[in-house]
Amino acid sequence: MRNPLFSTRLTRLLGISHPILCGGLMHLADARYVAAVVNAGGMGFITALSFPDQMKFREELRLCRELTSGKPFGVCLSVSRRKEANDRLPRFVDTLLDAGVRIIETSGHSPDIIAPRLKAAGCTVIHKAPSVRFALSAEKLGVDAVTLVGIDGGGHPGMDIASSFAMAPLASERLKIPFAIAGGIGTGRQILAALAAGADGVLLGSRMLAAAEIWAHPEYKQQLLRLDERDTRLVLASFQNNHRVLANDTAKMVADMEAERIAEIERYLPLMSGALTRNAYESGDLREGLIDLGPAVAYVREQQTVEQIFDDLLDDAKAASDRVQGLTATSGNPRARRLA
Ligand SMILES: Cc1cc2nc3c(=O)[nH]c(=O)nc-3n(C[C@H](O)[C@H](O)[C@H](O)COP(=O)(O)O)c2cc1C
Repeated sequence: MRNPLFSTRLTRLLGISHPILCGGLMHLADARYVAAVVNAGGMGFITALSFPDQMKFREELRLCRELTSGKPFGVCLSVSRRKEANDRLPRFVDTLLDAGVRIIETSGHSPDIIAPRLKAAGCTVIHKAPSVRFALSAEKLGVDAVTLVGIDGGGHPGMDIASSFAMAPLASERLKIPFAIAGGIGTGRQILAALAAGADGVLLGSRMLAAAEIWAHPEYKQQLLRLDERDTRLVLASFQNNHRVLANDTAKMVADMEAERIAEIERYLPLMSGALTRNAYESGDLREGLIDLGPAVAYVREQQTVEQIFDDLLDDAKAASDRVQGLTATSGNPRARRLA
C-alpha cells in the first residue's frame, strides 16, 4: 500500500490512507473486491442486496474480515422507494452488526428507516445522495458523511441531473459533514480537482470494474477495455428513476419504449431483470440486460489489480499536484512566469 498523499476529513473519519471510496456494486462488490480496496488503503462496501440470504451474506463478511486481516470494511445498503422492497433490510442490519461491521454506505431513498439504528449501534454512515438538497437532508438525519453522485455516475444517479464537479463547491459551502464526490471519476487528476473543489474524497464505480478482483467473466472485462465515454446512456427517466447503463440492445429497447411513451411498468420489468444483468456478468455476453456503467469506463485501459489502479490514481494525482504548483504565479517561480 502506498504512503498517504492526502489527509482529509474523510480519511480521518474512516481511518484510511487515501481519500478513495469504491461504492457498492450490485452482484460484483464481494469480499474479494472489497478486501482488495481496503488493503490498497481505500474503503469498499460489500453490497448486501447481492446476497440471496443471510447465511451467504454472513459468510461473505467473514471472508472479508479474513482477507483484510481484521481491518474495517464497509457494507452498502440500498433503500428502495418501494416500502415492501425494504423488508429484507433489518435482517441485513442484524447480520452485519453481529459480524462487527461498523461502516455503512446507504443509497437510494432516504436512509431514515435504518440510519437511527445504525447510529445507535455506533456505525459510521455515509449516505450516497444525487444532489446537495438530499445530502443536506441526510446531514439533518445525523449521517457522518455523504457522497454526492453526479449524473455521470454508473447505476442510479438520481433525477436532479447535476454533475459532481458542479455540486462540489456548493456542497463545500452548504454541508458541515465531510463529503466525497462521484460520477465520471477515474483519474488522479480528478481526485486532485475534487479536493481543490472542496470535497474530502472521491468515490469510484465504473473505473474499478475490470479489476482482477472483480469476479465477472474475462470477456466482460475485455469489452470494458474497448469502450469509451460515449458508450453509456440514461434510461428510465420516464419512471423518475434515471439508470445509467451500457448502451446495449436492452438499453435501446427500453429507450425506444420510453420514446413511444409506453407507461406500463410491467412491459419493462422483463428487460430490467437483475437475472439478465447477472447473466451478462457470468457469461461475458453484454447484449442483454441493463448493465450499470458510466463514462468513467473510458479510463479503463488495461487489466490491473485494485492495488495497481490505486497506484496509477495516486501517481496521477501527484503529477497533477506538481503541475498545478508549477503553474502558481508567484514572483519566485520562474516556470510560472515562463508559462504566463
Ligand atoms: C456495475 C455497477 C453496479 C452498481 N451497483 C450499486 C448498488 O448496488 N448500490 C449502490 O448504492 N450503488 C451502485 N452503483 C453505483 C456506484 O456505487 C457508484 O455510485 C457509481 O458507480 C459512481 O459513478 P461512476 O460509475 O461514474 O464511478 C453501481 C455502479 C456500477 C457501475
